[in-house]
Amino acid sequence: MSKKVSLVELIEEYIERGDIVLPVFNSAAMRVQQELVKKEPEMRTLVNIVSGDQSLSSQVLQMANSSFYKGLAEVLTIRAAVVRLGIGEVGRISLISAAQNQFQSKDKEHRQIMRRLWQHSVGCAMGARWLAKRSGFEDLEGEAFFAGLFHDVGKLFVLMIIEQLKKKSSGLRTSSALLSEAMTSLHSRQGYSLMRKWSIPEKYCVVARDHHLDSIDGRNFLLALVRLANMACNTLGIGIVKYPELVVSSTEEAHMLNLSEIDLAELEILLEDTKVLTA
Ligand SMILES: [Fe+2]
Ligand SMILES: [Fe+2]
Repeated sequence: MSKKVSLVELIEEYIERGDIVLPVFNSAAMRVQQELVKKEPEMRTLVNIVSGDQSLSSQVLQMANSSFYKGLAEVLTIRAAVVRLGIGEVGRISLISAAQNQFQSKDKEHRQIMRRLWQHSVGCAMGARWLAKRSGFEDLEGEAFFAGLFHDVGKLFVLMIIEQLKKKSSGLRTSSALLSEAMTSLHSRQGYSLMRKWSIPEKYCVVARDHHLDSIDGRNFLLALVRLANMACNTLGIGIVKYPELVVSSTEEAHMLNLSEIDLAELEILLEDTKVLTA
């Protein structure tokens, strides 16, 4: 008699067998990040990186001209976008655009989930950066944005694996409850190992791995920033879950970062605004 195998076990077996087609990380995104975390990022370097990637640069221009950023006249070149919005803003738009391209799906149900995950990632990135600034960790702003953007990359990865499995076995059926269970139980570990395979610096991989642990390393402020932004997004339903009952201001992370209820109320306003960016 054949043993009934759960979706989670199927995914784990598939990964262990090494059959998986790994997504490729956009190298321009890593170079943008390396420039952004410098004390004095160079405009010329950023313009060269983004302009050198045609699809990235057209996405960046589209976003720079969106209602979230729109100025009086349309910007037509990356250089013009940097002049208007600044290196930091264009760098962040580039990261958001590159991350958006990372995972695509032909499956309608997966696409809907990815869209919500996408909104969640952008919310966490913007939120973590804002929190870094508000809590006096300005030197962590660039890192917090990147860590927030990719903290749940494991969820997208798990979805991608399921899509590969579906192609191989046409009889595989999934429900949204099953997808959610697989993503929840596997994404921290799989996100960590995927980011390591992409040679992303360890501090970001650790955020992907540890953002749901019951206890937090009291010295890891980068992790605290992302965990707090993640919880704030979840209370507002920015993503695939909604926990309105969660009181973010009484969490260990809020104490660690010395943030008041007013700070966190302001964070909520910012997070609501980020929805426009991913609409
Ligand atoms: Fe997560
Ligand atoms: Fe998350």
